[in-house]
Amino acid sequence: MIFRQLFDSVSGTYSYLLASRHGGEALILDPVLEKADRYCQLLRELDLRLVKAVDTHLHADHVTGLGELRDRTRCITIMGDQSKADVVSMRVSDGDQVTIEGLALDAMYTPGHTDDSYSYLMGDRVFTGDTLLIRGTGRTDFQNGDPRAEYESIFGRLLNLPDTTLVYPAHDYKGDTVSTIGEEKAFNPRLQVKSVEEFADLMNNLDLPNPKMMDVAVPANMKIGLAQEEIARRGWAVKALDAQRMIGLSDVALIDLRERSERERHGEISGSMHVPYPSLKENIQSGGILYELAKSTGKRLLFYCAYGERSAMAVQAAQEAGLTASCHIDGGLDGWKKAGGRLAQ
Ligand SMILES: [Fe+2]
Repeated sequence: MIFRQLFDSVSGTYSYLLASRHGGEALILDPVLEKADRYCQLLRELDLRLVKAVDTHLHADHVTGLGELRDRTRCITIMGDQSKADVVSMRVSDGDQVTIEGLALDAMYTPGHTDDSYSYLMGDRVFTGDTLLIRGTGRTDFQNGDPRAEYESIFGRLLNLPDTTLVYPAHDYKGDTVSTIGEEKAFNPRLQVKSVEEFADLMNNLDLPNPKMMDVAVPANMKIGLAQEEIARRGWAVKALDAQRMIGLSDVALIDLRERSERERHGEISGSMHVPYPSLKENIQSGGILYELAKSTGKRLLFYCAYGERSAMAVQAAQEAGLTASCHIDGGLDGWKKAGGRLAQ
């Protein structure tokens, strides 16, 4: 496994680059905007293809690198269902898995620091975001933070992991890089409490100043969706209502770019072919299934995904590959459902 802990000294943020092999797919957790050049350089040096960028929660102390990395690499952006970010490519809820080639992260909903905070468990280690820090816990005094929820997330979820589980937080201001669940149980001063009341009392009286970047970071992190005006202007975006009239036409091939788990959880539009977004590139090149389908039958490829972001990037890629009749459903399955579109039985 390739595992890199990367540090932004301005905000004290740890970001994590994960991959199972050189030459394969990579995932980045909690990237910082200003470090995008560094991440891209490292990806090139390690011969990795970034396919997913994940934020554990909506950050208040730095601007996320999710949008920038998506624009540079066409990767999938991921946050939790509860996030107030305008658009991410994919949303997860408790119990979902975020996968890339050879690796799987289990999403654990651990609210408290914010109401959209997730931790991600990967085998012997857990990425705790700002829920559990090394010898600390994430503040709970803004962004719908709640000390009681944080207590439950820590005592009811994270501390139930094996004591040997490695703890990799999203921040550290003292220079510590890693801890374990057992170590935090024993030595984290915030966890030496006898009740949820005592914990809430402790957290409610920290009297911390707001993060310096908060007024900039929070609005920026709530507006990270892909700019799609150009795609619409070129006529590559189909409104959900118009798409309903196209489904079933003999000259249209409907392509679902989501993952199997999303199809199972949210349903699918009937008659769609399943081509997960990470495998798109090989499928739209000469010799690929979609390329040959479009070229041999003259069918128009109509892509869709969850919120219209993966499909917008797919249209761009397909157009670049010479599949000039390609288009996508604006707003994805979410838009489709809102427009009254039916799902396959
Ligand atoms: Fe945070």
